[in-house]
Amino acid sequence: MGKVRVGIIGIGEIGTTKHLTQLVRHSDEVEIAVLCDLIPERCEKANKDFGLDAKIVTDYRELCTDPTLDVVHVCTPNPLHKEMTILALENGKHVYCEKPLACTWEDACEMREAEKKSGKKLACGLQWRYNTATMEMKRMYKAGELGDVYYIRSSQLRPRRLPAYGVYTNKELNGGGVLMDGGPHSIDLPMWLTDNYEVATVRGVTFDKMKDFPEGNELGPWDPKQFDVEDTAMAMITMKNGMMFYIETAWCSNMQQEAPGIIASIAGTKAGADMVGEGFEEAVRVTGVKDGKLQTETRYPEEKYNMWEYDMDRWVDAITKGGEPAVNSYQAAVVTRVIEAVYQSAETGETIVFD
Ligand SMILES: NC(=O)c1ccc[n+]([C@@H]2O[C@H](COP(=O)([O-])OP(=O)(O)OC[C@H]3O[C@@H](n4cnc5c(N)ncnc54)[C@H](O)[C@@H]3O)[C@@H](O)[C@H]2O)c1
Repeated sequence: MGKVRVGIIGIGEIGTTKHLTQLVRHSDEVEIAVLCDLIPERCEKANKDFGLDAKIVTDYRELCTDPTLDVVHVCTPNPLHKEMTILALENGKHVYCEKPLACTWEDACEMREAEKKSGKKLACGLQWRYNTATMEMKRMYKAGELGDVYYIRSSQLRPRRLPAYGVYTNKELNGGGVLMDGGPHSIDLPMWLTDNYEVATVRGVTFDKMKDFPEGNELGPWDPKQFDVEDTAMAMITMKNGMMFYIETAWCSNMQQEAPGIIASIAGTKAGADMVGEGFEEAVRVTGVKDGKLQTETRYPEEKYNMWEYDMDRWVDAITKGGEPAVNSYQAAVVTRVIEAVYQSAETGETIVFD
C-alpha cells in the first residue's frame, strides 16, 4: 500500500504546531499532499518550514473533493468544523477534526450521521487526556485502586493566557469563548478517566468580567471592543451513575492554580489522586489509607506519555492499519452537548436535564 494522502485545512497555530509537526514524524506512511488556508502565505511558509511540496489551495471545497486525498484534517475556527467535516466525509475521506467537534449538539449529530453513512473514521483533537499523569490515573481507576469514584474536579485557570490571535474573542466567528477553547478538554477528561459519557444534568455559570482588562496577557493584548464571549466558565455535571464532576475554565483569572494546563483531581472510596505541581503532567499525588493511617505519596510513573505524539500515532494507525482513533466522535459529541448545556444553564439559571 502506498502512502496515505492527507490534506489539512487551516494552517494556523494548531494546524502547524500540532498537525504538521506530528504528521511529518510519520512521513513513511503519510504524505501531506494538500494545504488549504484563506491566507496562502501560511501554506507557503509551512511547505518551507516542514520541507514539504504540498499543493496549496484557498478553497476548502477543492481540498475536500480532491479525489487523490484519503484523509482531511480540519484545523479552522469552530463554526466551520461541521461544514468542512461533512463535505470531506461525503467525499469518502477519513476526518480528524479539531475540538470542539461542533458548536451545537445538533451539528455534532449531523457530523456523526455523515460519518456513519461514509463508513470512514471521524476523530477529534481532545489529546489532553494522554499525558503521563492522566494515564496513571486511568490505570488506577481501571485496576480498582481508587474504589468507587464519586467526584472529579477538572480545571484550567490561566491567569493571563487568552489567545488574543485569530477569532477567539468573537462569538460569531468562534462559536463562544473559553468554554469552546480549554472547555472541551476540561469536560472530556473526567468522563474519559471514568469511561462514562452518560450525563444526567448540567448547571453552569459563565462570566465576561475581564474583557476590559487586556494588559499583561502572555499572548498579547486584545481589543475589548472585539470581545463578546465569556472569559470564564464553571459547571457542575452529574452523571447517571451518581458521580459528579466540576469544571472550571478561565483565560485570564486573577488566580493561580497549582499548575498550568488542564489538571484534575479524582476522589474514590479507596484512594484519591491529584495532578500536582511542577511537571504536573508527569506526577500523581495519591492519597489513601495504608496500614491504618492516611498517607500521601507523589508518584512519577516510569511509563511516559507525550499527549501530542500518542494522539497522532493512534490516528495514523487508524488510517493506515484500521485501528481505533484515540478520541471517537461519540465522546467528542457528548462534550459538545455539555458545552451547549452550560451555555443554556448560564443563560436561564436552570439545571439542564439530559434524556
Ligand atoms: N487540540 C487542542 O489542544 C487545540 C489547541 C488550539 C486550538 N485548537 C482548535 O483548532 C482550531 C484552530 O485554532 P487555532 O488556534 O489554530 O486558530 P488560528 O486562528 O491560529 O488558525 C486558524 C486558521 O484557519 C484559517 N481559516 C479560517 N477560515 C478558513 C476557511 N474558510 N478556509 C481555510 N482556512 C481558513 C485561518 O486563516 C487560520 O490560518 C480551533 O477549532 C481550535 O479550537 C485545538
